[in-house]
Amino acid sequence: IRMFVSARKGRKCQFVQILATCFVLSLMIFWTPLDNHIVSHMKSYSYRYLINSYTFVNNSLSINRDNLDRVASYRYLINHKEKCQQQEVLLLLFVKTSPENRHRRDAIRQTWGNEKYVHSHLNANIKTVFALGQPADRMQGVQMQRNLLMENQKYNDLIQQDFLDTFHNLTLKLLLQFGWVNAYCPHAKFIMSADDDIFIHMPNLVAYLQRLVEIGVQDLWIGRVHRGAPPVRDKTSKYYVPYEMYQWPSYPDYTAGAAYVISSDVAAKVYAASQTLNTSLYIDDVFMGLCANKMGIVPQYHVFFSGEGKAPYHPCIYDKMITSHGHVEDLHHLWKQATDPKVKNFSSGFWGRTYCRIVNIMLLCKLHYEDTYPCSAAFS
Ligand SMILES: *[C@@H]1O[C@H](CO)[C@@H](O)[C@H](O)[C@H]1NC(C)=O
Ligand SMILES: *[C@@H]1O[C@H](CO)[C@@H](O)[C@H](O)[C@H]1NC(C)=O
Ligand SMILES: *[C@@H]1O[C@H](CO)[C@@H](O)[C@H](O)[C@H]1NC(C)=O
Ligand SMILES: *[C@@H]1O[C@H](CO)[C@@H](O)[C@H](O)[C@H]1NC(C)=O
Repeated sequence: IRMFVSARKGRKCQFVQILATCFVLSLMIFWTPLDNHIVSHMKSYSYRYLINSYTFVNNSLSINRDNLDRVASYRYLINHKEKCQQQEVLLLLFVKTSPENRHRRDAIRQTWGNEKYVHSHLNANIKTVFALGQPADRMQGVQMQRNLLMENQKYNDLIQQDFLDTFHNLTLKLLLQFGWVNAYCPHAKFIMSADDDIFIHMPNLVAYLQRLVEIGVQDLWIGRVHRGAPPVRDKTSKYYVPYEMYQWPSYPDYTAGAAYVISSDVAAKVYAASQTLNTSLYIDDVFMGLCANKMGIVPQYHVFFSGEGKAPYHPCIYDKMITSHGHVEDLHHLWKQATDPKVKNFSSGFWGRTYCRIVNIMLLCKLHYEDTYPCSAAFS
């Protein structure tokens, strides 16, 4: 009976979501010029769901052989070749950061990125490294680089290459990560790539990954999946992509770059593909999608990887959450609350589970769209 009720509520939720989507769409029709959003979304969805073939990627975005040596390889300015050596690594965690974000790195070192905590509390080996490029600021660059060297002496966890650390160089940062895994840590069971302004519920993630190891999972690529997303053709947008760079109305499916997890076999395949594709497309998560697509790897949606929004603050959410986006100031607080052992006590047992189901429905199945976890997460 409970399942029946859940399913009905699920459908009701979806109905509500569809209504809300229609509402948002109608707003967009009235408030934005027709040519961009609506038309490109319609095109991309029809492309995604009717044609659903991205075989073109192989041919047209591949670099030809004469250009292979032009694929710049950047030098390491800071590296830790030994980081993974001679030990079992459950998870290699790349945090994508920028030179100026010292306070974010420090907060992560003290919370979800803390290797010692994971080792002692969760009995697992993770390796946390921060991936970054060179300071882009000419004036303060030299001083900043000096600070980075000192920071690295203290923590031994920076991986830096000599490209400028800018938004349009994000794909280079992605290549850094896959190149590093391939060279120095191919035996890590899983690899995660995460932004430096997210929260990761490490106990939940580690437990999840340990279960996956038990069943010997392969071909794993999970996160928040973008299906049939259209390239942005609006020149004023940060994500503008000209036709010369990508000519089709839809990207292959990919996971949001804010946080995703892959298994080591996927990392090896994506690395191989990345060596053959034109890297001028600077949207790193889309580029990763193209690489994966070329190798026939499909992303899977995990409902507890959040979108752009923050997850609701509640023990019933903490019980299951994996990532949540946009946490800088409140990181310590959230870490403390979410990893408190009381959370598990609170949500276990018949009454705990029932209570949490109701609470999660109330928190996640709302009329107005909040980009956190989908309504269906309340029923998982
Ligand atoms: C990609 O295309 C090339 C020719 O352009 C072909 O040799 C190769 O086998 C293709 N690879 C895959 C994975 O289909
Ligand atoms: C990316 O980094 C390279 C190497 O440092 C630099 O020449 C280039 O200007 C950077 N690109 C952008 C868009 O910042
Ligand atoms: C990659 O594509 C861009 C267009 O987006 C083109 O200008 C460039 O020459 C290509 N690079 C290689 C190595 O083929
Ligand atoms: C959780 O519950 C168990 C018994 O179910 C109890 O022994 C333990 O002390 C509780 N832990 C906390 C932190 O409340």
